[in-house]
Amino acid sequence: MPTQPLAVRACVFDAYGTLFDFGSAAAACGDMLGDKTSALTTLWRDKQLQYTWLRSLQGHYVDFWQVTGDALDFALETLGLDQPAIRERLMQLYLSLECFPEVPAVLRRLRDMGFSTAILSNGSPPMLESIVSKAGLGGLLDEVLSVDEMGVFKTHPSVYRMAADRMGVPAGQITFQSSNAWDAYAASAFGMRVVWCNRYGQRRERLPGAPDREITTLSDLPGLLTLA
Ligand code: LAC
Repeated sequence: MPTQPLAVRACVFDAYGTLFDFGSAAAACGDMLGDKTSALTTLWRDKQLQYTWLRSLQGHYVDFWQVTGDALDFALETLGLDQPAIRERLMQLYLSLECFPEVPAVLRRLRDMGFSTAILSNGSPPMLESIVSKAGLGGLLDEVLSVDEMGVFKTHPSVYRMAADRMGVPAGQITFQSSNAWDAYAASAFGMRVVWCNRYGQRRERLPGAPDREITTLSDLPGLLTLA
């Protein structure tokens, strides 16, 4: 991939899997989940994403809290773990997900370099408010944007447009970071510059768009950027 810095003014981040470790919920519940912890994390996440896409396609939007609970119910039943106490604990843990260790220092560095910073997430406003404040990131973000105001989930182009509008920066001067390949490709197809933070060793998508850069930790992000 090219080495020339990306000239941008704003850095917009996906939340779940990019800034916040969605696996930390089930991991903190290992006493109840036992050897099904990892299977639960994978199935819960996969189903959650499928429901966002299916509901968007059907025009049956409900917020991400509802989708996350529905997906959890599906996953718990599939794995023979459908007990109210487990469900309640996991949903509460989803409101205090850990951020990845490099995140606070990276956000601070980007702001010192003069970039605006924001989240653009499927998460509902209360979910995002909770994880941002519990991780102490509030002072490091200019905007926390939820698709909820558009009533449709990623990858509908209207949500990426909303982020550009709200940041007051043209899409081509925004770099969007996601660990979700499908999200990275969609932001690129929309017209943002994209740094794919490929934490999970995903394969490249066969979809419109192409990330401008690929990294495996956000620590490498500031070195790829220059202020436009
Ligand atoms: C988000 C999910 C898709 O934060 O990771 O939007």
